[in-house]
Amino acid sequence: MTALIKMINTHLACEFQASHTYLAMSIWLREKDLAGFSSYMQTKSQEERSHAARLIAYLVDADAKVELPSIDAPQRSWSSTQDLFDQVYELEQAVTASINKIYSIAEQAGERSATAMLDWFVAEQLQEEAEARFVRKRLRLAGQNSAALLLLDQQFLDGTALTTVKAGPAGLANNV
Ligand SMILES: [Fe+2]
Ligand SMILES: [Fe+2]
Repeated sequence: MTALIKMINTHLACEFQASHTYLAMSIWLREKDLAGFSSYMQTKSQEERSHAARLIAYLVDADAKVELPSIDAPQRSWSSTQDLFDQVYELEQAVTASINKIYSIAEQAGERSATAMLDWFVAEQLQEEAEARFVRKRLRLAGQNSAALLLLDQQFLDGTALTTVKAGPAGLANNV
């Protein structure tokens, strides 16, 4: 197994672990009756599984061996919604670091099909980190104010919470 294939297999654990952790977060948020935040984290959990699926598809197409990792039981509770989203941000940063590492290995090996596949992940991670940072900042602004927290929760339910982030770099360019 080449270093690149090994690294992609190792990275599968990052995506599955993130999926599992986000599902646990979604449950905790639901228990706190923060339905909007909860459904957002549930969607994120599904997205992480789909990221793993993309990598698996690449491995299969490249005729490489897929080794599914074992996943640790995730944390079950958080001291606050702010604490929870701080962790989301840290987790996304760790995933980005792992993707960047794989990218470097793929580049060094001259594996164009891998860098092409990874380009999608680089863009995705930029978006995911921007989103996580945005939610974190919003929660900092809300502070201890329950009304502000509930408003944010409602915006997640309405699908408007991330409208400005969702625009992404391309969206911003269109507005200039
Ligand atoms: Fe991911
Ligand atoms: Fe992610």
